[in-house]
Amino acid sequence: MKALAPLLSTTLTRRELELARALRERLPEAMDTHATRAFERRFENWLGHGHARAFMGGRAALAMAIRALDLGDNAGVIVPGFTCQCVLNALAFAGAKAQYADIEHTSLGLDVDAVRAAITPGTRAVMVQHSFGLVGRDFEAILQLAHERGLKVIEDCAHALGARHRGLPLGAYGDVAVYSFERSKVLTTIHGGVALANDAEAAQRLCALAEAAPLPAADEIDAQLVSVMHDYWVRASGDAAGAERARALWGERVLPQMWPEEFGISVPPRYGQRMPSAIARLADAQLDRLDAVLARRRAQTAYWQHWASKRGIGYFDAIDGSEPAWLRFPLWVDPALKADRHALENALGVEVGVWFTTPAHPVARTEAHCPRGMDACQRIVNLPTLLPASHPHAAA
Ligand SMILES: Cc1ncc(COP(=O)(O)O)c(C=O)c1O
Repeated sequence: MKALAPLLSTTLTRRELELARALRERLPEAMDTHATRAFERRFENWLGHGHARAFMGGRAALAMAIRALDLGDNAGVIVPGFTCQCVLNALAFAGAKAQYADIEHTSLGLDVDAVRAAITPGTRAVMVQHSFGLVGRDFEAILQLAHERGLKVIEDCAHALGARHRGLPLGAYGDVAVYSFERSKVLTTIHGGVALANDAEAAQRLCALAEAAPLPAADEIDAQLVSVMHDYWVRASGDAAGAERARALWGERVLPQMWPEEFGISVPPRYGQRMPSAIARLADAQLDRLDAVLARRRAQTAYWQHWASKRGIGYFDAIDGSEPAWLRFPLWVDPALKADRHALENALGVEVGVWFTTPAHPVARTEAHCPRGMDACQRIVNLPTLLPASHPHAAA
């Protein structure tokens, strides 16, 4: 069987490989937040907005952002019926309560009428999730509704680093926003993320939370650096012998996407941890290449759009005024094709992603009052938007 181009196409290069190797050798020095603070300032300048603080995951950043908005005590937060368990956990761990609302099928964002209908006296915030880096059809209407009803807005930009709407970066519109550097995201440190506060009071709380957050232990940071080296060889290098060696050397230490306790009821310590300098240096190095990465993702999207339209396959387009990040290229397919995606994978020579398969992906869940979200869970698959230049489907 021929190798499939990987879905989790990574932006790791030799530069991050060498950096990870060097950081492992002087880990005690890299276990402060000196470089983290420098990265946060650069991130704020790059966005032109807000106060940024980095943590050990997008989900950790989301939990902190919710705490920064003081949304504990079972405060209701509206979430789309097309999301993942990490998001629900972050809300629960911060003491907030998820309230599902349905999505629309134009660009997979929250539906403004569904949001209005989901508001209860306990609702305090709306979490707008920019799925696959797209801007939802009703984004502006939801901002307006939240303003009218006195609700806070949380932008989940885990998929949308670098996306813009009407000239402003996503993340600048909400009271708070979160970004992810997990291994499937626009940039990767394997795990990591940023919480951004635009509201002055939330910024003060976020900074205090970051100040009080412990750093991960040295062996945890080391395992993450090992995972960076592993992923460079296995996912980015195109060197089969190097990948084999990396698997043998480090395979057992590679960090998972989710830890077992995230499927249970306990709070994994990572939800409270600050990003150390060692990880921030890796994120910072990739920020240099972000514009080039986004340009490639957009060119590949134009290629896939043409490909899908020629075949009569349902796909999505940017709404007026938006420049999506296109973390993935979502397709609207028959449920049978989603259930057995291997035919599509073999025909295209790329791995096909299935998220989200339930409103709490990957955990089974039914939200009957979100029929469009449930339908999307049955029908949305996604294609990679960063392919090796030699791949037959790579954009020219
Ligand atoms: C929409 C969305 N939000 C938040 C997260 C959490 O990000 P992280 O994996 O960095 O914790 C994810 C996870 O992958 C996600 O898909």
